[in-house]
Amino acid sequence: MNMIELKQVSRRYGEVQALAPLDFSVKQGEFVTLLGPSGSGKTTLLNVIAGMVTPSSGQIFVRGVDITNAPPSARGLGMVFQNYALMPHMTVFDNIAFPLRVRKMPKDEIRRKVRDVLDMVRLPDIAMRKPKELSGGQQQRVSLARCIVYNPALILLDEPLGALDKKLREQMQLEIRRLHAELGITMLNVTHDQDEALSMSERIVLMNQGRVEQIATPDELYRSPRTAFAASFIGTANLISGTVQDDIGTHVVVSTPLGMLRAATASQTMSRGAAVKLLVRPESVRMTSAHRPPDDHAVDGICHSGTLEDSITLGSVVRHHVRLADDTQIVVQQQGTRRRAEHERGAPVLVDWAPEDCQIILQD
Ligand SMILES: Nc1ncnc2c1ncn2[C@@H]1O[C@H](COP(=O)(O)OP(=O)(O)O)[C@@H](O)[C@H]1O
Ligand SMILES: [Mg+2]
Repeated sequence: MNMIELKQVSRRYGEVQALAPLDFSVKQGEFVTLLGPSGSGKTTLLNVIAGMVTPSSGQIFVRGVDITNAPPSARGLGMVFQNYALMPHMTVFDNIAFPLRVRKMPKDEIRRKVRDVLDMVRLPDIAMRKPKELSGGQQQRVSLARCIVYNPALILLDEPLGALDKKLREQMQLEIRRLHAELGITMLNVTHDQDEALSMSERIVLMNQGRVEQIATPDELYRSPRTAFAASFIGTANLISGTVQDDIGTHVVVSTPLGMLRAATASQTMSRGAAVKLLVRPESVRMTSAHRPPDDHAVDGICHSGTLEDSITLGSVVRHHVRLADDTQIVVQQQGTRRRAEHERGAPVLVDWAPEDCQIILQD
């Protein structure tokens, strides 16, 4: 069942089309992330769902019921913001109890519920403190607890971890995932951080300039991006422009500034003359010294010569930046740091990749 469904929802601010008409749904119990650069319409979309912003067109359904014109309080949704939005003069207990008091719940039941959710977010001993006596991570746990306590159908999270440092952010990502799994609450999260989206979500709605660019699982989005934007936003992409020469079933031949390249067959038959981009991920590129070409070089025939411009160690992987003869820059990623010493900056190198690791991207 769909917990939430949007049909042709859009929002305009004067000349600015913050959201183009878009459709998507979130299934009951699912964890979905809206991912996109700043200004792509994520907050607008979340606020439209929450009822804080009126859509210019379209309909919103919660469990099949049209709530497009319902006030925020009648939607049964919870919201967690980046700036916590806790009431500063109230204790943690009172902050969490607030939505229950509004709902006129009996006192001892409120006490029991608040204790339970504080245990759930692993903050059992801070009920009597004020928000300013807590760290950022603790405040965010309290906002989560305040949301969970009244059992909303759906929790909307707008960059909830944006203000936390990297370590704490990763810890809170795990916490939110655990709560999602334990409670089975449907969650719609917003972030501009691709790593957060990839590590937390069951599905990602990738947004760009108020439009939905692609909806896919993290794995699909990385392996089969539909557009050049999606390919570059998720991970690092080597993109090479070209024109289709021939689609011979087993692979596609594409004319590029690097010469004729072979690409894996696309989901559709490619017609001759079609303008495309080719995507090769950095971990699919092999780099060897030009003085010691690989054994299969002659067989494959498509090694590209270039110059190693820089190598950067990122923990367990090394990224090499190679400038090819025609000025194309190729990023190469290798595992392990031992290999770094093998190639000096400025050294002549050869790069190549298997045709099946070269994907055709149809759209910009
Ligand atoms: N209240 C508003 N008035 C005018 N323009 C707005 C308003 N809210 C958002 N916008 C515009 O809509 C676009 C999307 O904004 P937003 O939804 O906040 O993006 P995101 O959350 O992805 O950063 C931006 O161009 C922004 O300037
Ligand atoms: Mg935003």
